Amino acid sequence: GFKKKEANLLVIGLDNSGKTTIIDQLKPEDKRSRDVAPTVGFTVDRFKNNSLQFTAFDMSGQGRYRNLWEHYFKNCDGIIFVLDSSDKLRMAVAKDELDQALKHEDIMKRRIPILFFANKMDLRESMTSVRCSMVMELEKSIRDKPWHICSSNAKTGEGLHEGFEWLTDTLK
Ligand code: GTP
Ligand code: MG
Repeated sequence: GFKKKEANLLVIGLDNSGKTTIIDQLKPEDKRSRDVAPTVGFTVDRFKNNSLQFTAFDMSGQGRYRNLWEHYFKNCDGIIFVLDSSDKLRMAVAKDELDQALKHEDIMKRRIPILFFANKMDLRESMTSVRCSMVMELEKSIRDKPWHICSSNAKTGEGLHEGFEWLTDTLK
């Protein structure tokens, strides 16, 4: 891994999947926001977690902003891809966005770790992380990068620690 104490994280995934809520939960308690609104464009956040200093580029997932993502591919050390595990209808759209990112030259050639959150695990209609990874065909699509998926509930923070621990270890 990288021998550095700073890491740029790119946080992507469809609108309403929970990206901003996840980033908010990773911050120290006194720095969290009370309400999370849909992101316009993107937001940059700096926080310390597990002795690493992170700069997170929390991108908007709305269709009209997704073209911004690729401008941040080059500069990122790790990707957090958030899935709404209850949104079965749009899983194909999420897969399409992932596949596009994976074949971008700034991603393709690099061994960037990708952490997936199968978020909104608290909803009754949500799919398990195993099911999400099957629908997204992660095993097949990501051959030359470390990746990991875990279920999460961004509202309570459940599952975030496990995922983030994996990411920090992989970045070290
Ligand atoms: P964009 O900025 O538009 O791309 O959306 P986003 O991915 O940042 O989603 P955001 O964090 O704004 O969350 C969207 C909605 O989902 C909010 O109302 C959150 O409170 C809710 N939400 C986020 N995570 C969870 C979760 O794990 N469970 C449930 N039930 N709701 C969640
Ligand atoms: Mg957001």
